[in-house]
Amino acid sequence: MLDVGTTHEDLERFLAEHHLVGAGLRREGRTAPREGNTAAHWSWEGIYKGLMQSGKIVTVGPSGMTGMRSVVGIEARRFPIWMNAQILMPGERTQAHRNLRSETRLVCQAPEEAVFVCEHATYPMERGDVVTNPAWTFHDHWNKGATPAIWIDGYDNGYNPNVNINERLPDDAPYQEIKKEAGDGPIAVEGARSAPGETVFPIPPMRYPWAATQAALTALRQAGASDPYDGFLTMLASPVDGGPTLPTIAWQAQLLERKQRTFPHRHNSTTFYFGFEGEGAVAIEGERLAWQQGDIFAVPAWKWHHHENTGGGDAVLFSIDDWPAMKKLGFYLKEEARGF
Ligand SMILES: [Fe+2]
Ligand SMILES: [Fe+2]
Repeated sequence: MLDVGTTHEDLERFLAEHHLVGAGLRREGRTAPREGNTAAHWSWEGIYKGLMQSGKIVTVGPSGMTGMRSVVGIEARRFPIWMNAQILMPGERTQAHRNLRSETRLVCQAPEEAVFVCEHATYPMERGDVVTNPAWTFHDHWNKGATPAIWIDGYDNGYNPNVNINERLPDDAPYQEIKKEAGDGPIAVEGARSAPGETVFPIPPMRYPWAATQAALTALRQAGASDPYDGFLTMLASPVDGGPTLPTIAWQAQLLERKQRTFPHRHNSTTFYFGFEGEGAVAIEGERLAWQQGDIFAVPAWKWHHHENTGGGDAVLFSIDDWPAMKKLGFYLKEEARGF
C-alpha cells in the first residue's frame, strides 16, 4: 500500500489507489472506475489521509490552486447525487459562491470556532451536524480554529452534470459580510432570489444539530419504531413544509442495534451513506460491502439491498437519497421483501 508521500504526484497516486481524486489534482488516467454493485465504496483511511495531505500541499481560496479542497470517489459522478469530503485547515476561508444545485454537509470533525456561512449568517459546525445551503444561496466555510475542519458534502448536482451555473464573489472581495449568528436556523433569505431567468429560490438554509437527530433516534428506539428495511430511521425535515430536507434530496439518519439485520428492499432512488458510528455491512444483490466508521458508500438504484450491524455496539449511518426528486417527477418505485 502506497504512503501518501510528499509531492502532488505522490498524493495523486495515493488517492488513485483508494479510488479517489482531489480538487486541484489531476483527475484522469490513473485508475479506471470499478464496476459492479459494490464499486461505490471509499474507505475513511483513504479519505482522511488524502484530505490531510491535501491540506498541506493544495492551497485553497481566491489565490489558491482551487476554490475548495476536496476528495471524491472516482465512481461517484456516475450517480445523480453524490457525497465527497472536504477539509479546511486552521485560518482558511473558502471563496463565497452560489450555484444552481443543492449543497448540504455533514460535519465529521471541526474546532469550536469553525463556521459554515450562508446568506450572511454563520452556523456552528459540531460533529454530526447537517447544514444545508439550498440552490442559489451564497455560502462558504471559515475555519477560525486551530485544528482541521472536515465534513462530508451531499450534492444533487442540479440534476444535470453537464451544466454548472456558478457565481463567485470577486477575487478582491471574496467573502460574505457576516450580519448574524444563526445558530440552529432556519433563517429567512432576504427577498426571494431570482436566478438568471424567472425561477425564485425561497428555501432558507438550515442547521440540524446532532443533538436533535440523536434525540429523534433515541425516541424511535424507545417507541420500538424500527423500520423493517432501514432500522430506526429519521429524516431531517424541511423547515418550510415538514417534508424532505430539500426538494431533490432527503438527509436521513438510521440506527441499527447490535446484531440488527433488516429485510431487503429496492427502490429506483440512489442512496449515498456515511458511516457515522460503529460498523456494518450492506448486501447489494448478494454482494457484500462491509463498512467502517468514516467510510462513504452508495447503493445504486434498483438493487436489492439490506443492512446489518456487524459491530459490538450501535451502528449509525447518515445518508442522502434522491427519492424526493423521483417522487415529484413521478418515477419513484419501491419493492419490499418480507424475508430473505
Ligand atoms: Fe458550493
Ligand atoms: Fe434502501
